[in-house]
Amino acid sequence: MSDPSEIDVSLLTNEQAKAELKRLAELMAHHDQLYHTNDAPEISDAEYDALKRRNLEIETRFPDLKLENSPSDKVGAPVASGFSKISHNVAMLSLDNAFNDQDVRDFAARIRRFLSLGASDKVALTAEPKIDGLSMSLRYENGTLVSAATRGDGAVGENVTANVKTISEIPQQLPENANVPEIVEIRGEVYMRRDDFFALNEKQAELGKQIYVNPRNTAAGSLRQLNAKITASRPLKFFAYAWGEVAPEMPATTQMGMVELYKSWGFSVNPLMQRFDDIEALLQHYAKIEEERPELPYDIDGVVYKVDDLALQARLGFISRSPRWAIAHKFPAEKASTILKDIDIQVGRTGALTPVARLEPVTVGGVVVTNATLHNAEELERLGVKIGDTVRIERAGDVIPKVLEVVSSPDDAVEFEFPKTCPCDLKSEVVQEKTASGAAGVIRRCSGEFACPYQRKEHLKHFVSRKAFDIDGLGEKQIEYFYQDESLYINSPADIFTLSKRDQTNFTKLKNRDGYGDLSAQKLFDAIEDKRTIPLAKLIFALGIRHVGEATGKTLAGAYLNWASFEEAIMSIISGDEAALQELLALDDIGPAVVDAMRQFFERDDNRKMVDDLIAELNILDAEAPSADSPVAGQTVVFTGKLERMSRDEAKAMAEQLGAKVAGSISKKTDLLVAGPGAGSKLKKATDLGIKTITEDEWFTLIGRD
Ligand code: IVH
Repeated sequence: MSDPSEIDVSLLTNEQAKAELKRLAELMAHHDQLYHTNDAPEISDAEYDALKRRNLEIETRFPDLKLENSPSDKVGAPVASGFSKISHNVAMLSLDNAFNDQDVRDFAARIRRFLSLGASDKVALTAEPKIDGLSMSLRYENGTLVSAATRGDGAVGENVTANVKTISEIPQQLPENANVPEIVEIRGEVYMRRDDFFALNEKQAELGKQIYVNPRNTAAGSLRQLNAKITASRPLKFFAYAWGEVAPEMPATTQMGMVELYKSWGFSVNPLMQRFDDIEALLQHYAKIEEERPELPYDIDGVVYKVDDLALQARLGFISRSPRWAIAHKFPAEKASTILKDIDIQVGRTGALTPVARLEPVTVGGVVVTNATLHNAEELERLGVKIGDTVRIERAGDVIPKVLEVVSSPDDAVEFEFPKTCPCDLKSEVVQEKTASGAAGVIRRCSGEFACPYQRKEHLKHFVSRKAFDIDGLGEKQIEYFYQDESLYINSPADIFTLSKRDQTNFTKLKNRDGYGDLSAQKLFDAIEDKRTIPLAKLIFALGIRHVGEATGKTLAGAYLNWASFEEAIMSIISGDEAALQELLALDDIGPAVVDAMRQFFERDDNRKMVDDLIAELNILDAEAPSADSPVAGQTVVFTGKLERMSRDEAKAMAEQLGAKVAGSISKKTDLLVAGPGAGSKLKKATDLGIKTITEDEWFTLIGRD
């Protein structure tokens, strides 16, 4: 018998077809691995496609023989980026921002209030430059560097250990007898010096290779090389300034003490870091760093302040994704003047109409700017801006540049009239939003909602964005590309997950489009399959309900745990179930605006259909109940009377961190009352209802923080 791999499909016997399907499945799995994980394909895209085609032809002729996990409907791809993932035991968080001196004074006042401190009590703060690089977590076990991870989404980063080991400023071994904990995750910033960046770009240009935009991107690009030899050839540096997991205990009691230890272990620490007892002196240090900024050998974008005392840091804890004990004081934006050539109207996800200035290109702080936001109709009026004017614009950090003022206006400048209908084909009416008091608000919205193609498209962009479904290779550009496409449209979230089904025959439809080769089509479908399984919190956030941001998505997922319970709760609320409503309102950060937005969203039939279609395509991962192992997890706690060891805010934050719900009043649902001196009616009501009541000291004993 001749080799079955040579035989034409139409001539294969049943037995031969069976053997061939098995062989093709194994072969394709092997090549998938080489392509996705090792980044080292051994066959061309065309050869890979020929295998796929043959497999499909055999399956079409012998449908009964199709393998259960046939390559034709392959789900889940190996990690496409080529780096494995590392979960951070202690999340890598971001910092809240301050933009002026008053924001910093407010930050200090918040800390005092939270800790119930008097005006004369001192809280020492450290101040250090905010390095414009990328954050890194280095894990040392018994003094040896064992792994290095990028921040990623804060919870899971990329394993870049091999690359980090090529950075000479990062010790692979910490000294003995230097008070190094058994486990210590040292966090800091990988960056590139400005002079090194310029030299590297010159070399790249000579070789006709990629030119980088700024030192930060270069550092990131250099670190994310699959080949560690390339990283080794790039002059990367590292400043140590923070930490993740430390066990069995912290080797210092202050921020400054920790950084001094880092220095003694051989790390570079920033020489401009200083400690201050007084806010005004702290602000003077900011001014000094700002003055020195142009001469520093590396880019910085602000000054970070941190509470020095680690015990106070622990009491202050976190709000959402940032510590309450730290803030980044950003440097002011950079400015430039240019000509406003035109004004376009953009329609956002919520239908809000935003006027956008199209500008004569101008460089602001090293970046070419061609667009700037004009915010809304009122802002246009306030600025009195006309097309043809010379305007002053500013760019702060990564945010969209904005128009500050009109510098001069030529005689032939043209007045701009704000549209009364949506620029989309439906020409829906534009309505001016009302504020809570009924006055006219500044926002004008298209009334078309999901029918408006602009809003729908923005919803889809939000759906695939980094903090939502985050599908590799399906970003804003691709949504534009697929949106309302004749044969391979993506009009609603569910369409993303039926894309490959609708393009069955060897992805010919996708491949006939610009920019999609054989393997990139496969990669896109694999990336989509990868996100078919999605955590509940991300799904809720991805739906794009107004006021339901990332943190609210997490709160809702943490409270309802699975999609069915979440949906049931919302539907009960819509049908007037008061208890369900109260339960939702009792959650942290959930107020009437969120409830109204969810009600309005789920009341609409078109939205419900959109959601139902989507859910049918997904495998939703249930959320975990917060900190289930604490003694108060899942309980509803009420604090009353005068608390002496903590402020009210602090008590609430502490209980919530331990997985408890904090309520303001006693009800049958209350599990525990913590009563300080002077407790009155709440204590009585709790006693009447037989609710367990403890003192503040007993609370600390209960949670093991005595
Ligand atoms: S402290 C809990 N200190 O800023 C927060 N961050 O917006 C710990 N960064 O991702 C961060 N210089 O990459 C801290 N001196 C500094 C910093 C700094 C730069 C970055 C860091 C972080 C981001 C937070």
